[in-house]
Amino acid sequence: MEMFSPMRNLLLNLKEKNYQNRKVGIIENGTWAPNSAKCMKEILSTMKDVQIVEPIVTIRSTLKNTDIEKLNELAEEILK
Ligand SMILES: Cc1cc2nc3c(=O)[nH]c(=O)nc-3n(C[C@H](O)[C@H](O)[C@H](O)COP(=O)(O)O)c2cc1C
Repeated sequence: MEMFSPMRNLLLNLKEKNYQNRKVGIIENGTWAPNSAKCMKEILSTMKDVQIVEPIVTIRSTLKNTDIEKLNELAEEILK
């Protein structure tokens, strides 16, 4: 139910460097109860002008074709 610590460290380092004014996509991977997107969002939402782009993509263990569609959708939204 937590975030893998290297990802937490990365996000906290970015926050310390005043990371701002960006579009961010969130992709999480989990098996039974993925929660890392929520954890990542909590830190990202404290950064100035960081826009979290939808859809947030949840992969359950292995990449499925439906996930690829979502990833393409996310990529398109980031490019807008
Ligand atoms: C220590 C540990 C904790 C995990 N906790 C969760 C969890 O809270 N929720 C969840 O959905 N999956 C959990 N998982 C499963 C991982 O998300 C799963 O390993 C991953 O989706 C598959 O990627 P991998 O093959 O790189 O491990 C956990 C796995 C490990 C090793």
